[in-house]
Amino acid sequence: MYDSDKIIPGLIIFVLFITFPVWYNHGDASEVPKPELPKDVKECVLPVADMRAEHMQLLNQWRDLVLRTGDRSFDVKIAGKEYQKSLMNTCMQCHSSKKKFCDRCHTYASVTPYCWDCHLAPVE
Ligand code: HEC
Ligand code: HEC
Ligand code: HEC
Repeated sequence: MYDSDKIIPGLIIFVLFITFPVWYNHGDASEVPKPELPKDVKECVLPVADMRAEHMQLLNQWRDLVLRTGDRSFDVKIAGKEYQKSLMNTCMQCHSSKKKFCDRCHTYASVTPYCWDCHLAPVE
């Protein structure tokens, strides 16, 4: 009644297909994420090692300062351009893809900052 010659290979392919992410990532799981860096600028607002380690604290400081004092000034100029203490108007101007930048590391590190509940990510 059933054509097992076709069903069994079909099932095997189906199982391989749905488990693909599991076995494909096996052994690569520890590979470090590669966030896509901006192409037109070379520097971040702070030395890159500090940014890697402390961007969360920096963002929290910025938020607190902006909300408490209203002062958005930030005395860093990059390539002649002034930046403010702002997630959207600073970080996301250079790091214009949340998916290819922030998320690549965060997914890897299993963190899900709740910032995007309110702040808009750039349209991609
Ligand atoms: C003027 C453009 C610019 C702005 C504004 C900017 N960045 Fe960067 N950022 C860069 C560049 C360019 C690099 C790569 C620098 C390098 O490799 O030396 C970088 C690197 C980083 C890294 C490390 C990436 C890695 O591969 O390890 C993090 C994290 C980061 N930025 C977060 C932020 C956050 C958060 C903000 C806002 C507070 C921000 N950046 C604002 C341009 C910018
Ligand atoms: C080089 C990798 C990397 C990049 C790129 C990166 N992050 Fe992170 N981020 C991390 C890691 C790792 C943590 C968790 C750190 C910890 O728990 O100490 C984190 C945590 C955070 C947190 C705190 C979240 C929490 O729940 O504690 C915020 C906010 C944050 N990142 C914002 C950003 C934003 C915005 C961007 C994009 C502009 C970005 N990050 C890009 C690695 C990165
Ligand atoms: C409940 C909504 C909400 C959440 C969640 C939230 N914010 Fe905000 N944030 C605001 C509002 C509202 C302002 C004030 C906006 C203004 O005055 O321009 C603000 C301002 C800021 C500012 C300074 C102004 C600017 O233009 O960026 C920073 C930096 C900031 N938030 C970072 C964060 C980070 C980082 C997270 C996640 C860890 C976060 N926020 C989560 C609502 C939120």
